[in-house]
Amino acid sequence: MFVFNHYNKNMENSHVIKVEKLVKRFPIGKGEFTALNGIDLQFSRGEFAGLVGPSGSGKTTLLNIVGSLDTPTEGEAFVLDHAVSRLSAKESAWLRRKELGFIFQSYNLLAVHTVFENVEFPLLLLDYTAAERKKMVMDALEWVGITDKAKSKPPQLSGGECQRVAIARAMVKKPSLVLADEPTANLDAANSHNILKTMENLNRDLKTTFLFATHDDKVISYLKRKIYLIDGKVDKDEKIINQ
Ligand SMILES: Nc1ncnc2c1ncn2[C@@H]1O[C@H](COP(=O)(O)OP(=O)(O)OP(=O)(O)O)[C@@H](O)[C@H]1O
Ligand SMILES: [Mg+2]
Repeated sequence: MFVFNHYNKNMENSHVIKVEKLVKRFPIGKGEFTALNGIDLQFSRGEFAGLVGPSGSGKTTLLNIVGSLDTPTEGEAFVLDHAVSRLSAKESAWLRRKELGFIFQSYNLLAVHTVFENVEFPLLLLDYTAAERKKMVMDALEWVGITDKAKSKPPQLSGGECQRVAIARAMVKKPSLVLADEPTANLDAANSHNILKTMENLNRDLKTTFLFATHDDKVISYLKRKIYLIDGKVDKDEKIINQ
């Protein structure tokens, strides 16, 4: 039986993410395309980091592997000390459910459910009472400034509003690690800054680790570490000190 190795929140120096010699090739017709070409990276608890780089450089591919939604062709990604390629489907679902919040480049909201239900969904799989869930969902909707739409359904929302719901859903359980793929792509400047500040607060208060994939200058200006990917390789790894 799989025994989940609960992440020790007191281990200041442990690596939340460790990626070693990571290669990802996608089959295309009879050939293949190398999307990640030997990536070595480590992230400690409480980092506020981002993968930056041009379209097609491999940002989403790397986030998907770290989020255990995909497996590497070569090398390994460790997330909270679990080797993602060695997890069964059930184990990776468990890891995502307990410890990860994922903000997708496409929002993946459930169209037939209300905003409240969409954000509540990850909590239904955990051990909370209805009253606790209600408080957590309303808090998360407030973080992203969308409490007035709690009863609406995604098709009734604008793109930016859907994006804010997706962010609330990823953050509602206050996960150890948030993976955020272009989280501000459809937001105006004011909303982007509000959400980035909320994320910064969670990062500071709860030591939530954030890993973004982005080419948005607003997001980039908040990052404390920038990893530049070019053609599936790390071109530069820049830590911003005294921010
Ligand atoms: N399932 C797939 N099959 C084939 N090629 C793929 C697949 N997924 C991604 N790729 C290719 O891998 C490369 C990296 O894709 P990825 O989505 O990681 O880029 P990205 O850096 O996130 O770009 P963007 O900024 O546009 O979101 C791209 O050239 C893409 O076409
Ligand atoms: Mg992408």
